[in-house]
Amino acid sequence: MKTLSLSFQSQILIITINRTDKLNALNKQVIEELSAAIDDVYNNPDIKSAVITGSGEKAFVAGADISEFTALDANGGKALAQKGQENVFNKIENSPKPVIAAVNGFALGGGCELAMACHFRVAGNNAKFGQPEVNLGLIPGYGGTQRLTQLAGKGRAMEMILSGNLIDAHTALQYGLVNYVVAPEELLKKAIGILEIINSKAPLAVAGAIKAVNAVFDEQLDGYGIEIDTFGELFNTEDAKEGAAAFMEKRKPAFRGR
Ligand code: COA
Repeated sequence: MKTLSLSFQSQILIITINRTDKLNALNKQVIEELSAAIDDVYNNPDIKSAVITGSGEKAFVAGADISEFTALDANGGKALAQKGQENVFNKIENSPKPVIAAVNGFALGGGCELAMACHFRVAGNNAKFGQPEVNLGLIPGYGGTQRLTQLAGKGRAMEMILSGNLIDAHTALQYGLVNYVVAPEELLKKAIGILEIINSKAPLAVAGAIKAVNAVFDEQLDGYGIEIDTFGELFNTEDAKEGAAAFMEKRKPAFRGR
């Protein structure tokens, strides 16, 4: 990987976008490498969850790489958005293992969209969020119009997307865009601490919960039906038997992901 640094801690893959001199802007290579890293989250049994963050003290991700926009026409723009959404943003959202964003500075445009594609977000108190595409004569293309509206509500999403104005971490907390605001030096620790708790739970239940919650936002799906089916299917897992047995025997469950 040329644009990502990958490390492991407590079965958590820490994905750090590493283009500090360009404020971690998402060029083609970052998108390709993120796609591969998320594939690894899906497929590697040693990885239970992941954190995405940016290198340096200034930016999580300052957007899609604007220098790649100059050569695009309508078809090129559409392909860029579609490929990015399929290979990275939707893949993160639908990951059966939790992927959370540790937002350590500017999360603008594609950076805000990347954070929003994650299952939830923790921010440093220096974080700034925005969808400034309108300043470039564009709109968000990596899911921002949809996910910002889902997370912050229509009025707030409209204002951010139409004005291009940035919001600070505390406003993001108030908008429901982030779950916690912490000191920058505490950011990764906070994200890892939450994932360590999640990693101690039954993996198939965690995956089922992600699927059922995500179903709220897909009009093609019957979320209540998915909840009923998933709830039922989990009774066939060894972990559900272990969970109930451990409760009855007043001991800690040993989940195996089966
Ligand atoms: N795409 C490509 N390069 C980017 C970038 C982006 N989205 N965001 C920042 N960079 C580059 C700058 O061009 C600069 O490169 P250079 O040193 O080779 O000139 C470097 O990163 C540092 O950015 P700079 O603008 O000098 O930092 P700043 O502190 O003055 O401003 C921002 C920070 C985030 C306010 C500013 O970089 C910015 O507005 N970036 C674009 C945000 C945006 O519109 N994102 C949505 C894209 S769809």
